[in-house]
Amino acid sequence: MNRPLKIAASVLAADFTRLGEEVRAVDQAGSDWIHLDIMDGRFVPDISFGPGIVKAIRRSTDKPLNVHLMVVEPERLLERYRDAGADHLLVQAEPGSTVHLHRVLSRVRDLGCRPGVVIDPATPIVWIEHVLHLVDIVLVMTVNPGFGGQAFLPEMLPKIAALHSLCTERGINPHIQVDGGVDPETARACVAAGADVLVAGSAIFGSKDYAATIAQMKANTQ
Ligand code: DX5
Ligand code: ZN
Repeated sequence: MNRPLKIAASVLAADFTRLGEEVRAVDQAGSDWIHLDIMDGRFVPDISFGPGIVKAIRRSTDKPLNVHLMVVEPERLLERYRDAGADHLLVQAEPGSTVHLHRVLSRVRDLGCRPGVVIDPATPIVWIEHVLHLVDIVLVMTVNPGFGGQAFLPEMLPKIAALHSLCTERGINPHIQVDGGVDPETARACVAAGADVLVAGSAIFGSKDYAATIAQMKANTQ
């Protein structure tokens, strides 16, 4: 399970007036993946951006695009984001997003993208037990989804650890990704609990030196 830590900079916190430049900057600063939050104004209150912007971001980086679908009925949208250049398509596990989670995750694989499943803070691990074998990534939300810049929920740490143990017991090795309130300090506890991919928005884009912040996250977790 010991894999080098990956950082996924969350573009939601970027300066959207200079989007291409910001994406190139985090790419060069060492972000391993680029995290894109798709918000539809229904699953979460705000609307962020859609496939057109994802396509523009695709032209600004060769790093994997880690697309987090905070939408209702993601099954309607998978092809659009695949065609826009998504490498990973992450779907929320809650029935308020999709009713047929197993089918959606299988479809992501059929479309040639890497499937990921996302669990909100209140969603128990048992909800994804029977789809774990279908995914390359499990994303544990450490804030309630919808907004950047929220405080990390430390009560999610035992959940990350339990998920890590369950994967070990099963002999499977999906990436365990964490999203929300991650900074160089909270990063330590996430990695100690078993996470190997950290999403960070405000911690990176709100800092003066993106490369130094990413390097600090990696150094703090070694
Ligand atoms: C929250 C989003 C996050 C957000 C994280 O709903 O899923 O990806 O961008 O932002 P920070 O790192 O600022 O908590
Ligand atoms: Zn996200």
